[in-house]
Amino acid sequence: NNFAVLMAGGVGSRFWPVSTTRHPKQFRDLLGTGETLIQTTYRRLNKLVPAENIIILTNEIYDQLVKEQLPQLQSDQIVLEPEMRNTAPAVLLAALKIYKKNSNAVMIMAPSDHWIEDEDAFANDVSLAFDACRTGDKILTLGIKPTFPNTGYGYIQYDDSKEKIKSVQNFTEKPSIEVARNFISQGNYDWNAGIFIWNASFILDSFRRNLPEMHRLFSEGTAVFNTSEEKDFIKKNYPEAENISIDYGILEKEEHIFVISASFDWNDLGTWGSLYNEVDKDENENAALNVKLLANKSTGNIISSASGKVVVVEDLKDYIIIDEKDVLMIVPKEKEQEIKQIRAKVQQDF
Ligand code: GDD
Ligand code: MG
Repeated sequence: NNFAVLMAGGVGSRFWPVSTTRHPKQFRDLLGTGETLIQTTYRRLNKLVPAENIIILTNEIYDQLVKEQLPQLQSDQIVLEPEMRNTAPAVLLAALKIYKKNSNAVMIMAPSDHWIEDEDAFANDVSLAFDACRTGDKILTLGIKPTFPNTGYGYIQYDDSKEKIKSVQNFTEKPSIEVARNFISQGNYDWNAGIFIWNASFILDSFRRNLPEMHRLFSEGTAVFNTSEEKDFIKKNYPEAENISIDYGILEKEEHIFVISASFDWNDLGTWGSLYNEVDKDENENAALNVKLLANKSTGNIISSASGKVVVVEDLKDYIIIDEKDVLMIVPKEKEQEIKQIRAKVQQDF
């Protein structure tokens, strides 16, 4: 009764211009492994969850991409959202579908675009979490030791016991830089990896308590879930749901949260800088992705090209240079969080 839901409906806007609305990063081979990120994620989860119990949640515009990249899926394993409403409504739909199939189901919600180095360590931590919520009404999170005050993550304050599964005192999504600094100096905080494990019945109860309108809206469709009428129900009702992430909608409000400090290396590949950390670099710490780089007196740059061209740089430090078919972007690494706004200003997605 293990189930998995893969979140694959985001746009990856801080990874522009390689991640675009039409072709977001989860459907790309960002690391040059020969697999796209969603293919790697599927394989990683399939070690813990039978193939028929893996559900992909994505926007309807990515239907084709999912089918091409994961041809083993049956059509009822792909849930298509007619509009972007962030992660909470998507997860609620999946939980209702899964609960109807198996009221004892335990499930993992996982982003489809992360890098995890040690797959066995990941499987161990998640198995532990599955066991914990098989017998208890709780949300299990996976915590990552923070290395700097990143404002793009959720922060988990745990009670300082020696247990492998610690109880969580507070969950704070995307704090300000001052608050993030303060958290890190206190010591008993982890970053939220964005991977959650719970039993279907408890997460539905949590939606009922914390997002009651959304719960009412979707649970009215219970009779049609997993039937041929499901798609029409979603098309009609999904756009009525509140636009909110699971982190703000559930995690910040729920009290029964626990954390397992991850025993694997993790990177959410959220920005160009985080990708830079995982790829090979030359002796001057420049990362050249699909580029013949001729660099002089230049260090710490990440340079990528869609066309494999020769790139010459002189006296350049800590820049992101991304050459795509119709756009060339040059931004200092320290401004990587602003790429989301830069993309919005350009008003063209390419
Ligand atoms: N199906 C679906 N529908 N998936 C979505 C949607 C949607 O509308 N929006 C985003 N996703 C997917 C993304 O593709 C990604 O895999 C995952 O859900 C998380 O969304 P992000 O937009 O990447 O969230 P975030 O990075 O801002 O924050 C989350 O992840 C951090 C770690 O990477 C939070 O959980 C943070 O607390 C966490 O620290
Ligand atoms: Mg993310």
